[in-house]
Amino acid sequence: MDVPTFAEPWRVKSIEPIRLISREERSRALTAAGHNMFRIASEDVFVDLLTDSGTAAMSAAQWSGVMEGDESYAGARNWFHLERAVREVTGFDHVIPTHQGRGAETVYTRAFVEPGDLVPGNLHFDTTRAHIRNRGARPVDLVVREGLDPEDLSPFKGNVDVETADRFIHDHRDHVRLFILTVTSNTNGGQPVSLANAHAVSELCRRHGIRLLIDAARFAENCFLIREREPGQEGRPLADIARELFSLADAAAMSAKKDALVNIGGFLALRHRADLDACRPWAVLYEGFTTYGGMSGRDLEAVARGLREGLDDTYLAARIRQVRFLHGLLLDDGIPVVRPPGGHSVVIDAARFLEHLPRTAFPAESLASALYEEGGIRTAALGGLAFSEADPATGEVVTAPWEYTRLAIPRRVYTDNHMAYVADVLRRLYDKRGSIGGLGLVEAPPELPHFTATFEPLDG
Ligand SMILES: Cc1ncc(COP(=O)(O)O)c(C=O)c1O
Repeated sequence: MDVPTFAEPWRVKSIEPIRLISREERSRALTAAGHNMFRIASEDVFVDLLTDSGTAAMSAAQWSGVMEGDESYAGARNWFHLERAVREVTGFDHVIPTHQGRGAETVYTRAFVEPGDLVPGNLHFDTTRAHIRNRGARPVDLVVREGLDPEDLSPFKGNVDVETADRFIHDHRDHVRLFILTVTSNTNGGQPVSLANAHAVSELCRRHGIRLLIDAARFAENCFLIREREPGQEGRPLADIARELFSLADAAAMSAKKDALVNIGGFLALRHRADLDACRPWAVLYEGFTTYGGMSGRDLEAVARGLREGLDDTYLAARIRQVRFLHGLLLDDGIPVVRPPGGHSVVIDAARFLEHLPRTAFPAESLASALYEEGGIRTAALGGLAFSEADPATGEVVTAPWEYTRLAIPRRVYTDNHMAYVADVLRRLYDKRGSIGGLGLVEAPPELPHFTATFEPLDG
């Protein structure tokens, strides 16, 4: 296969200016935002690595599809295009459009999760955890041990620990009815799940009679990494790998804002007619009619086209190469990053970067703030605050073991020069890391606290 790994397989057609405001303005913006990156205005950001979600540059083909949007309430032609694309890519017969990944989570947790349930998965992401808890159930992470070790170089750090999962389901059989396999695993930096592991999880779910749902937000990147890293998968068409992956599950939930290269959209895809019947009423209630699901006709068309584009070999090769380029620059400078690089982001181990700060001083948030102040770079703090939850039995707050600051790379948006700039700023910060102060929490809501929490610098 002739896959150029050295240059992007596109040229720029339209640009959007970005501006680095002064350090003084950045400091003011930071204070006004309560040191929370979600509260900063995007016009005050120079390089925005807050998320890879909904931030892609769409192709000319997608934009031309936007002009073909059929804005009828029901049965718009773009809906049929989307349904066809989802069937083709996933092999599932039944498709429910949703406004984004969270919409799919609302619908499937309503239909498939009951109060008191335990919902195992490899490593649930924040909104998935919140949706599970919102149903009075509990998310349970069963990722392999190496998945939580930032230094471990295993190729599939998103895999499920199948033996532990087997025991867990066996011990809690009456409370487990759904297993969620997230590909790639966002929480630890886009680490992939191998096809062999997905087969084992599928077999386990069948044996125990529980539903397997794939959170497919980054399925294309996962398939690319399978082809590259899994013995026996070399040279296989990505569409084939994707079909095999989906064939192992009963359903898939998709935030199209990632691997379908759109700014808004999502869907739920289902194998069984009975599951469609269980989900459809909730979709109508929360998302809108079943042929638009919170999207306009033009959005549906952009998703239909982006879903196929997202599996393109040359695009994925260039994207993953860029993530590795940034990862390599940071590694060369001795900056503690999660290894190996995953699909969509470079993750800094903020606890090690700022080892003089205790966890109570929010290292992940403190590093994100320092990066913004130093270079106008916006990142996401995914540490103890984002992944802490109260034990339903004791009420005790359990904090995740990691303190990560994630640099998520938007698709087809930035050049390698932007990546080099980010690395330069990080190098400067690393050289003076001892002078970076911690943060104290001012206020935070109990659920999904990291989106809206505010902080202030700790004295000294
Ligand atoms: C793995 C995963 N699942 C679900 C979601 C939720 O998708 P959305 O942001 O489109 O609601 C995200 C978002 O980042 C995600 O990374």
